[in-house]
Order: sequence, then C-alpha cells, then structure tokens
Amino acid sequence: MRADEPFAMTDRILQQQIAYYRARADEYDQWFYRLGRYNRGEEINQRWFQEIEIVKQALQQIGQADEILELACGTGIWTQELVKIGNKITAIDASAEVIAINRSKLNSPNVEYQQIDLFAWQPDAEYDLVFFSFWLSHVPPELLNSFLGKVYKSVRVGGQLFIIDSRFEPTSTANNHILNDDGSIYKSRKLNDGQEFQIVKVFYQPEELQKHLTEFGFIADVKLTEHYFIYANATKLEN
Ligand SMILES: C[S@@+](CC[C@H](N)C(=O)[O-])C[C@H]1O[C@@H](n2cnc3c(N)ncnc32)[C@H](O)[C@@H]1O
Repeated sequence: MRADEPFAMTDRILQQQIAYYRARADEYDQWFYRLGRYNRGEEINQRWFQEIEIVKQALQQIGQADEILELACGTGIWTQELVKIGNKITAIDASAEVIAINRSKLNSPNVEYQQIDLFAWQPDAEYDLVFFSFWLSHVPPELLNSFLGKVYKSVRVGGQLFIIDSRFEPTSTANNHILNDDGSIYKSRKLNDGQEFQIVKVFYQPEELQKHLTEFGFIADVKLTEHYFIYANATKLEN
C-alpha cells in the first residue's frame, strides 16, 4: 500500500459524499419527513417527530442570535428554524442543488448562501451562533480536529455552537439501508432509483463529543433523545 493511499481513499469518499447529496437533493426531505423508504409506520414515525420537537425546543431556548453561520445547510430543514432566532444567516453547503432548494423554500433576504467545500473552507468571520445538523457524522475522524478548529475560530467569544446529529438507530435510515455496527466509518447509501454511493458516517457517544468540544475550549452540554438524536449546545468563553 502506498503511504498516501488512506488519504486518497478518504478523499475519494468525500467526493462521493458530495456527489451523493447533489444527486439526492430532490428526494432528501423524504428522510426528515419519514416518507417513502423512510416511512417506518405511524408509531415509529411519531417517535421520530416527538424527538425532533425536543431538539427544536432546545435550539429555540438558546434565544436570539444576531449573526448565525450554518454549515452544510442542506435543503433548509434547519435553516427555517434558524431564521426564527437569527437576524442574518450565512448558510454554506457544497451542493448547488440543495442550496437552490433551500433558497426557494425559505425565500428570505436574511439568508446568504455560499457554495463551499467545508474541507477547503477557511473561516473569515466570527458569529454569535455556529450551527450544523447531521454534518459532524460525515467528517472523517482524521479531519475532525482541523474541522473543529475552524468551527472554534468562527464562534465569537461568548458565542455559541449548536450541533445535532444521528444516534445509531436502524430505523432512522431508509428501509433498504443496512446499518451494521461493524466499526467501519464507510457506509453505503442508495437513492430511490437504486444508485449507490459510499459516504462517511461516524456515530458519537455524548462523552466523546463532550471531550472533543471541551478540548477545543468550549463549555459543552451534550444530550441524547431517547432513540434518534444527539445534540450539543456549547459556549466559547475565550480565544
Ligand atoms: C446529511 S445532510 C445535512 C443537511 C442539513 N444540515 C440537514 O440537517 O438537513 C449533509 C449535507 O452536507 C453537504 N455536504 C456534503 N459534503 C460536503 C462538503 N465537503 N462541504 C460542504 N457541504 C457538504 C451535503 O450537500 C448535504 O447538504
């Protein structure tokens, strides 16, 4: 194996990950709203929506933020929550397709979109709140420190970070995705037409996420909902 092979592999998967979300843009929301392959029946769907409500309330409780940075904003499922608590949102994503959906859904003069690959992103401003949902799990472990370092730089002193992500729960994904607890960070994902992609998916335990955030200097509070979500609210106290 050549010395640069693991890096080449990660890079290839990260490009596939972008390609996957670009190709999935029109069907992405089916996951969140539990439609099609993500519909697990009324009882399990209800559980999902109740837990989403808990996380939404936790986000609302952090209060008003003047300037918000949303990383990997996707189709706007959470951007539409952020416009309720923020005056100006900068929303970044690598996919022009999801940005177009987000823009037309929100139609808000308070959201500015930037199409950027977050692994090449260089932060150039500080925000009252930095937010990302279902993104941290797609950051390969070897790039986590570099990513969190940029996140830390983007939060102003006294500002906050809010993260939402997935717990390991087989009913959270499509019924034709196999969620193996095999230790691999590479997972296969399918579109409705059967097209298959490899992506990175890392499931964090609260203590682990808490440790990473604390190491960067955040005061963090990491919580779980009963089945589906892990979420963290953190404050930056000093530079
Ligand atoms: C699981 S989705 C989450 C979207 C949104 N935050 C939500 O909660 O619905 C992951 C998002 O990351 C974006 N993405 C994938 N790779 C990226 C990269 N390298 N840089 C920036 N965004 C990327 C995808 O386009 C997609 O919108």
